[in-house]
Amino acid sequence: MHPTLNIAIKAARRAGQIINRASLDISQIQVNVKQQNDYVTEVDKAAEAVIVDTLRETYPKHLILAEETGRSGQEDSEFQWIIDPLDGTTNFIHGFPQYAVSIAMAHKGVLTHAVVYDPSRNELFTATKGTGAYLNDKRIRVSKRTKLDEALVGTGFPYRVFDHVDAYLGIFKEMTRRTAGVRRPGAASLDLAYVASGRLDGFWEFGLSPWDMAAGALLISEAGGLVGDLAGESNYLATGNIVAGTPKVFSQILQVVAAHRTPALTA
Ligand code: IPD
Ligand code: CA
Ligand code: CA
Repeated sequence: MHPTLNIAIKAARRAGQIINRASLDISQIQVNVKQQNDYVTEVDKAAEAVIVDTLRETYPKHLILAEETGRSGQEDSEFQWIIDPLDGTTNFIHGFPQYAVSIAMAHKGVLTHAVVYDPSRNELFTATKGTGAYLNDKRIRVSKRTKLDEALVGTGFPYRVFDHVDAYLGIFKEMTRRTAGVRRPGAASLDLAYVASGRLDGFWEFGLSPWDMAAGALLISEAGGLVGDLAGESNYLATGNIVAGTPKVFSQILQVVAAHRTPALTA
């Protein structure tokens, strides 16, 4: 295993311990509202602190972009970490066990290492560019499904910004009709890891942040799937709008999206 991935795993497991410990008594967790329907707890902050400390022991100068503390480190570093210490905070606060730690590393803008760790199930999804994707110690691949009507697809509902809700609902309506089922588990990084491991055949969501997508996207491409923005291009980290899936399901979701996309909805 690549030493950088090893360090990312160590950081994710330490954060997972904090999250698991706190999940034993969620009534004790102090919740703050960042903005409408956007929550942060002391658990998100403690998990982020341990991740950043762990990475900094080995990589004091790397640039770090983390959800709760923003950017730190050397701005001109070739290496950038992209971190969501607790993806699925709303689930976590409710004791709904679907949340994850997401850590990605990019070298010169190219995603090279990824960890998505589900602490409640002890499921560790990892990938290093060019060497495949793994769940715990087993190699994972996207499913073999080719037809949208047989596909189980994940999504995330708009919940904070409602500018594109009509376009979203048009897509949603068509997807519920044309797929085997639509799921909204509530942690985007884990949804993408589920595409990588074949539990879902596709996924789409608008308005995400880079830390929701970076690790999951590398997992999918290393598992033989495709990830793109709403035009099927590679700008999803910048636009926040993402489509993913097995190669065939990916292109069919893109067609559905194209039929409902409005000019205001950037790719
Ligand atoms: C959220 C989750 C959710 C997605 C939201 C994200 P957070 O992350 O990934 O599934 O729909 O857009 O913001 O706030 O729990 O880290
Ligand atoms: Ca998130
Ligand atoms: Ca988060």
